[in-house]
Amino acid sequence: MAFMQFFTILAIVVVFLSSAALATDHIVGDAKGWTINFDYDGWAKDKVFMVGDNLIFTYQKDKHNVFKVNGTAFHDCTIPPANEAYISGNDTITLLTPGKKWYICGVGKHCADLGMRLAINVVSRAGAPAPTPMPMPMPTPNPPSNSAFANVVSGYQVVAAAMVALMVMIFA
Ligand SMILES: *[C@@H]1O[C@H](CO)[C@@H](O)[C@H](O)[C@H]1NC(C)=O
Ligand SMILES: *[C@@H]1O[C@H](CO)[C@@H](O)[C@H](O)[C@H]1NC(C)=O
Repeated sequence: MAFMQFFTILAIVVVFLSSAALATDHIVGDAKGWTINFDYDGWAKDKVFMVGDNLIFTYQKDKHNVFKVNGTAFHDCTIPPANEAYISGNDTITLLTPGKKWYICGVGKHCADLGMRLAINVVSRAGAPAPTPMPMPMPTPNPPSNSAFANVVSGYQVVAAAMVALMVMIFA
């Protein structure tokens, strides 16, 4: 009985902690939003962008837009076809994969001359289940992490804890 209670509590705690730690919304440029003459390198420098987080670009919709581009287009401020633009003025872009990501404004010389370019590095959420509909975590080793928490909340442990909780509900 005490055994079952321990695992039920453990399962609830693990599942709760992992979902609480899931996604951060990063409002690009904070209160200034997505605009000209802002230091987006400085804005991004101290932030940690994780898979599952959102980038939110807020701007006056007739004045700017957002394109996701590759490193070359970022460097050269090459504007992609207009139909690839985000144009709502309040665009949420979910970071789905780890690695470098680049965003530019495609209006006038906003990228080339006025600093409307953002480069970030997205890191995987060590151990936590990726926000993809995979039935089981892939059996790949997790990258080393200096966070004890991230190690505890591994995908396997979440799955295992959920299964234990299910068993407890069925058999208790
Ligand atoms: C980068 O994007 C541009 C424009 O979309 C494309 O022409 C180019 O081939 C891409 N470069 C790489 C290295 O993917
Ligand atoms: C942007 O959209 C989010 C929901 O996606 C909403 O909560 C927020 O209030 C909107 N912000 C503005 C400035 O419209």
